[in-house]
Amino acid sequence: MIREITLQNLNTGDFIREKTGEIRSAVGSGIAINALSGGVDSSVVTMLGHLALGKQLRTVVIENGLMREGEADRVKALFSDLGVEVEVVDARQEFFAALKGITDPEEKREAITQTFYKDVFGKIVRESNAKFLLQGTILTDIDETVAGIKRQHNVFEQLGIDPQSAFGYRILEPLIQLRKEGVRKVGEAVGLPLELFARIPFPGPALAARIIGEVTPDRIETVRRATVIVEKWLRESRAFQYLAILHEDRVTGMRDGKRDFGQQIEIRCWDSLDARTASPTQLPFEILLKMAEEITTQIPGVVSVTYNIASKPPSTIEAV
Ligand code: XMP
Repeated sequence: MIREITLQNLNTGDFIREKTGEIRSAVGSGIAINALSGGVDSSVVTMLGHLALGKQLRTVVIENGLMREGEADRVKALFSDLGVEVEVVDARQEFFAALKGITDPEEKREAITQTFYKDVFGKIVRESNAKFLLQGTILTDIDETVAGIKRQHNVFEQLGIDPQSAFGYRILEPLIQLRKEGVRKVGEAVGLPLELFARIPFPGPALAARIIGEVTPDRIETVRRATVIVEKWLRESRAFQYLAILHEDRVTGMRDGKRDFGQQIEIRCWDSLDARTASPTQLPFEILLKMAEEITTQIPGVVSVTYNIASKPPSTIEAV
C-alpha cells in the first residue's frame, strides 16, 4: 500500500531532501538513466535525479514519433537552460513498426510499453551499464491501472511485474506518493520554469492515446496538427487538460463543391483537480467555432469537428 502525501501534508523542502537521499543511496556510485518526456512528472524526476546524482545521471528523451510538434528539441533546450544535458534518441521506426496494424486500445498501450521498456530502453541500459531507470509514476497512474480501467504505460510492480527480470533494470519512482498538484509544487521548488511545472498533463503513450484505430505516421501528423490548434486556443482557458482526438469513422463532407468522405476530430477540454473525475469545460461557443474553422481549413481531409460534453466517469480523459 502506497502512503499518499496530500497537498496539505507536502513540505517540498523535506520531500526533495528525502527523495534525493533515497536516489543517491540506491544508485551509489553507479549510473542511472531517466526518460524525460517533457511532461510535468518526468521533468520533476529529471531535476530530482540531477540534484541527487549530477553526472551519474543520463537523461534521454525518446523521440518516439508520437510527441507533440517540436517537443524533443524544445525540451532539450529548456533543460539545457537549467544545466541539464539531455540526449535525444531517435526511436521512431521502432514505435511505428510495433504499432502497425493494432487497433485495440489496450494492445496499443501494451505495444508502446514493450517497445519503450524492453526494446528502446533495454538497449540503452545494456549499452550504458546503468542499473536503474528513474521515472515519474504518480499515484493516479497506479490507481487506474490497478482498478483495471486503463493500463498506464509506467506501472509494473503493482501488477506483479518485476522490471528487473522483465527488462533487466530496476525502476525508481520518487513521485509515487504524489498526485498532480503535489508534483507541480515540487516542480516549482526544484526550480523548473513555470512553462514546465504548470504544463497540462500529457500521457506517456503520447498522441497514440488520442487516435482511435491504427496509429500511422500520417494519422499522427493529423492529430499533431489538431493538437497545435487546440493548445493555441485553449492555453488561456485555465482548464486542467485539453486535447484533440482523431476518430476512425469517416463522414461525408464537401469541399470545393465535391464530396469529401473525410476524417473527424473531437476536441476535449476538462475541468478537474486530480484527473480522477473530470467534467467538460464550458468553453465560449466562439472559441469552439474558431478551433473548428482552423482545423477544417488547415488540416487536409478533416471535415468534422465535435466537442465532448460527457464527464469522467463514464468517459475518461484520453480516448484510448
Ligand atoms: P484517463 O484517460 O485515464 O487519464 O482519464 C487520466 C490522466 O492520466 C493521463 N494518462 C496517462 N498518463 N501514462 C501517463 O503517464 C498513461 O498511459 C496515461 N494515460 C492517461 C491523462 O492524460 C490524464 O491526465
